[in-house]
Amino acid sequence: MAEPALAVRALEAGYVRGVPILRGVGFDLAAGEILAILGPNGAGKSTLVRTIAGLVPRFAGEIRLAGASLADLPPHRVVAAGFAYVPQVANVFAELTVDENLALGGYTLKRGRAERAARVFELFPDLVAKRQAKAGRLSGGQRQMVAIGRALMVEPRVLALDEPSAGLAPIVVEQVFAMIRRVARSGVAVLVVEQNVRAALATADRALVLAEGVERLSGAAGDVAANAAIAEIYLGGAPAGASP
Ligand SMILES: Nc1ncnc2c1ncn2[C@@H]1O[C@H](COP(=O)(O)OP(=O)(O)OP(=O)(O)O)[C@@H](O)[C@H]1O
Ligand SMILES: [Mg+2]
Repeated sequence: MAEPALAVRALEAGYVRGVPILRGVGFDLAAGEILAILGPNGAGKSTLVRTIAGLVPRFAGEIRLAGASLADLPPHRVVAAGFAYVPQVANVFAELTVDENLALGGYTLKRGRAERAARVFELFPDLVAKRQAKAGRLSGGQRQMVAIGRALMVEPRVLALDEPSAGLAPIVVEQVFAMIRRVARSGVAVLVVEQNVRAALATADRALVLAEGVERLSGAAGDVAANAAIAEIYLGGAPAGASP
């Protein structure tokens, strides 16, 4: 068996030593697969992707990308290893054009920048007509395309998106999830943090539901969607040994 694109084991992490926010989280993610990270506000979803990205201290556990440990690498080395992270806010340079945003996404590349930008435009053809437009003047959906495209410039093995559909109109949410499916079909493993539970479960292959830094449910997206415990988790019910 090939190594998973991303493997996380028994991860404990947090902002203050001795105060873990994540308390033993684990999953595997294969190339071309979409994993939704779900859970109520404050569950630790952003902390999870930010820990993998090297932005939050890890206290225990393992993070492996295609078999190689990412643990404790600084953020730029995590990117270089093949993990790209798109934060929820401030994920494009509003004053720069689409072309300039993509060029910045690939600024560490010694060569091949134009080819990679061309691949991004193949994936998101709607952006072609906007190449010279400032990102701040684009629609919400187009801005997400630029943010995702910028992250794809380094040809990551794993792409993590923190709430890519937040604040978007329902029809645009659909477009964002269609983009995510297109990215996954190109062979990238996708980790997507979402509040939009229904749309995320309709798109993802698998889902992991966190509450208070621990895994409450995980499995095939369809099984998680059908599990009665999910509503109770979002309503803040007491753990009931829930499993799919
Ligand atoms: N920079 C920080 N310093 C200290 N504590 C933080 C910091 N960021 C988040 N936390 C705490 O970590 C916990 C998890 O927060 P996190 O942002 O990971 O949750 P989340 O699941 O992404 O929530 P949301 O759905 O609201 O985005 C919360 O208790 C939060 O207060
Ligand atoms: Mg968050």
